[in-house]
Amino acid sequence: MSLYCENVSLNALAEEFGTPLYVYSQAALTAAYENYASAFDGLSPLLCYAVKANGNLSILRHFAGLGCGFDIVSGGELARVLAAGGRADQTIFSGVGKSRAEMMYALEAGIKCFNVESLPELGQLNAAAAECGIVAPVSLRINPDVDAQTHPYISTGLKANKFGIAMEDAEAAYYHAATLPHLRITGIDCHIGSQLTNLSPLVEACGRLLDLADRLAAQGIELEHIDLGGGVGIVYHDETVPDLSAYAQAVRHLLGNRALSLILEPGRSLVGNAGLLLTRVERVKRNGDKYFVVVDAAMNDLMRPALYQAYHHIDNTNPQPGNTFTADVVGPVCETGDFLAQNRRIAAQTGDLLVIRSAGAYAASMASNYNTRPRAAEVLVNGSEFRLIRPREQITEMLERELACL
Ligand code: LLP
Repeated sequence: MSLYCENVSLNALAEEFGTPLYVYSQAALTAAYENYASAFDGLSPLLCYAVKANGNLSILRHFAGLGCGFDIVSGGELARVLAAGGRADQTIFSGVGKSRAEMMYALEAGIKCFNVESLPELGQLNAAAAECGIVAPVSLRINPDVDAQTHPYISTGLKANKFGIAMEDAEAAYYHAATLPHLRITGIDCHIGSQLTNLSPLVEACGRLLDLADRLAAQGIELEHIDLGGGVGIVYHDETVPDLSAYAQAVRHLLGNRALSLILEPGRSLVGNAGLLLTRVERVKRNGDKYFVVVDAAMNDLMRPALYQAYHHIDNTNPQPGNTFTADVVGPVCETGDFLAQNRRIAAQTGDLLVIRSAGAYAASMASNYNTRPRAAEVLVNGSEFRLIRPREQITEMLERELACL
């Protein structure tokens, strides 16, 4: 079996660029974006791609070219967006820990909105804006206290989470914001979690935000937009994921004829299944009854299995019949948690090329240098063409910024 990304052979890419290697399909990126745009047609949403899912400059440039805005959570991500040709006035800034320097940078750049997550942050943003002589556009991130029914580490909309302003404090927070001279209230936002496989928490959160928007309007605070946060989940294994048209229909219905524009911040669902990770089998080893397929990718290249017990499908590009067994697929990192799959039926032998699926989101962007492993290269495929969009990191590059002082 020879496997392809668009018209390009994965074996050929592995030969040319080595492994581990992230491979992305440009057509799949476009299709995922257009899926959102067409499902929400008529609502003219501003889609702000969540840069944290995959911040490669070529991917950002591609989305910018499609008319996409961006959701950032750091000054570094803003620098990426600007370097990729993204528009500051279509960029929103989320996160509980924005520093003063990051606020100033985003103010000077002229971003569309700050998604503010607490009262202290409101005061600090007002002060930063005063110093810049700018009025900061502000949305308050409300924690709607709904259970997103996802992995606890990626659930964010419960009271127990660090995110957002509690619903019971929300109105007072808006009244306070309205008194701050260097802030201009423009919106309301939430983000209840990631890899959502159920639509109802998203719809419930939308309803709660709209009720609040109505109460604010009755007090003279008219909002311009509502931002419902990240996108829907994707299929990694056998999940059923929410239908975007059904989501759009529910939002359309709830919005009714309110004069609120819509913002969404999808990350995973725009890139997750547009990418894969190629890895080579170093060897198969056996400890007693247990088999291990040792590959050259590791938890530093794909953290998700170690961190969230996440499932990623794995294909062998050249499986040999009769060679199939149940094994853990593990990397070279010296941690028991360094696995890419556990108890998986797999055919593998030394030298085989494996394809780890659904690695477009939260894979390269969460990669680290743990065990002094250089970060893998990234390739973007477009039809029969492909481009190296990040060369493999060199060990010399990793060492040159450190000082052996003593
Ligand atoms: N907006 C905000 C404020 C967020 O915090 C996130 C994700 C998103 C949008 C994008 O959500 P998405 O559309 O991707 O579901 N590393 C984890 C996922 C962490 C998500 C953090 N926030 C994983 O690999 O599953």
